[in-house]
Amino acid sequence: MKRIFPLIAIGIVMALALSVQTGCYYDNEEDLYPFTGVCDTSSVSLSGIVKPILQGNCYGCHSASAAAASGAGINLEDYAPLKGWADNGRLYCSVDHGNGCSQMPKGGGRLQQCDIDKIKAWVDRGALNN
Ligand code: HEC
Repeated sequence: MKRIFPLIAIGIVMALALSVQTGCYYDNEEDLYPFTGVCDTSSVSLSGIVKPILQGNCYGCHSASAAAASGAGINLEDYAPLKGWADNGRLYCSVDHGNGCSQMPKGGGRLQQCDIDKIKAWVDRGALNN
C-alpha cells in the first residue's frame, strides 16, 4: 500500500497535466492568428472587388435587365449609370444607411462593414472603370 500511493499520486498529476493540455491549449489558426479587424481597402478595383459585391447583393434588382422591373430603373451594372450613382454620393449613402437616401440592399440586411468600406474607397478614388 505504501508503494502504490506515490504511483497513484503521480498518475493523478499526469492526468491533470494532460487534461490541462488538451482542455486549454488551442493551436488552431483562428486562435493563433485572430482577425485583426483590419479591412484592406488599398487596392479596390471595380472588376475585382466592387462588381462582385454588387453582383452578390444588388443585381437581383439593379442589373441592366432587372432595373426596370425591380430596381426603380436604377442600373448599377453598366458603368456610366453606376459612375453617376457613385459620384452623386447615393451609392455609398444607400449602403451606409446614411441620411436622405434609401437604405440598401432593399429588404435585406446591411452589408458587411468591410464591403461598405471598400465601396467607399472605390468611390473616393474617383469610381474608376478599373
Ligand atoms: C429587392 C430589390 C433591391 C435590392 C436587392 C437593392 N435595391 Fe437598391 N433600390 C431598389 C428600389 C426599389 C429603389 C428605389 C428607392 C426605394 O424604393 O427605396 C432602390 C434605390 C437605390 C438607390 C438610390 C437610392 C436613393 O436614395 O437615391 C441606390 C443607390 C441603390 N438602390 C443601390 C443599391 C445597392 C448598392 C444595392 C446592393 C447593396 C441595392 N440597391 C440593392 C431595389 C433594390
